Amino acid sequence: MKALTGIVLILLAGLAASIWIGFHTKLSEGTLPYDDDQRGISEQVVIKFSHVVAENTPKGLAAQRFADRVNQVSDGNIKVEVIPNGGLYSDQEELEALKRGDIQMIAPATTKLSSFSSKWQVLDLPYMMPTRDSIIEAVNGEIGETLLQSLEENNLKGLTLWTNGFKQLTTNDGPIVQPSDLKGQHLRIMPSHVLKKQFELVGAKAVGLDFNETYRLLESGKLNGEENTISNIYSKKFFDVQSNLTISNHGFLGYAVIMNEDFWSKLTNEQQTVISKALEETTRWNQKQSFEMNDEQLSLIEDNSSIDIHYLTNEEKRKWFERWQPVYLEFEEEIGKELMSKMIQLRNSHKDF
Ligand code: LMR
Repeated sequence: MKALTGIVLILLAGLAASIWIGFHTKLSEGTLPYDDDQRGISEQVVIKFSHVVAENTPKGLAAQRFADRVNQVSDGNIKVEVIPNGGLYSDQEELEALKRGDIQMIAPATTKLSSFSSKWQVLDLPYMMPTRDSIIEAVNGEIGETLLQSLEENNLKGLTLWTNGFKQLTTNDGPIVQPSDLKGQHLRIMPSHVLKKQFELVGAKAVGLDFNETYRLLESGKLNGEENTISNIYSKKFFDVQSNLTISNHGFLGYAVIMNEDFWSKLTNEQQTVISKALEETTRWNQKQSFEMNDEQLSLIEDNSSIDIHYLTNEEKRKWFERWQPVYLEFEEEIGKELMSKMIQLRNSHKDF
């Protein structure tokens, strides 16, 4: 019996010793056992990316492409969740939600940033960027950089600029060929002093309203018309509730991709690099794909709807351009003479009508 007790004691002592040595070795090697899932969850960064347009649009597709790329490259450690169609916040609300930190990323139309810095108004001036090349030159160059930097004053991190395309005119009281054809019409615009003035100059009454209110107001006849890109006219079916579309290419619609500065600065260098690289790739893709998408969807509207389409001739464009010159003068001071003269130089080197 004594011998048996001795053997059991020796075995227990051996077991205790090997357990101690095992733990000790692991501790000294810094390889404490852990649960992969728990680690993943506690370190995962979630970025809620909210926007107001449909998924199948230049912004909707770019946002999803960016999200997929970040999720893939970071191996799921950074998770970008895209919420389209104003599903969480309307145009006005999303900026406030970003500032509060309720969401981490948005890509509003540049127009909607003029309340932060009046410099952004330069992109809204009619025919300021007359060609696609002029748009790319402006957004990718010094002008785009200046505008993105201006957001810092508001604790916002401007990351990149995406394009949608040229704005066109639609109405249920057309055709719109001459500036006087808009006289007395009620139009929806994005909230903007420049856009309001632009339409005042041709005798129209333009009201700044949320994007996702537009269809209902056009359908009910409370509004006669609106201005937007083909992609937005197509994806929100404005062509179903409008009788006339004028391809005027009179204005630009693009997006500033932004984050809350506090959120951005708390990310590690490595996380910032993953996001910046994914954005670089997405921006290159967006700036090509957005124009193609507007072209394709114009053909679809032409082939599948009864809306009458008029393409402004160069001579007609010149008339609108002349009529809109006072808006340049009125906003020059607010925008700043230096930025204004850079843009006008760019415009003059590209103007093709
Ligand atoms: C609009 O309000 O018309 C646009 O800003 C919508 C968008 O984001 O493209």
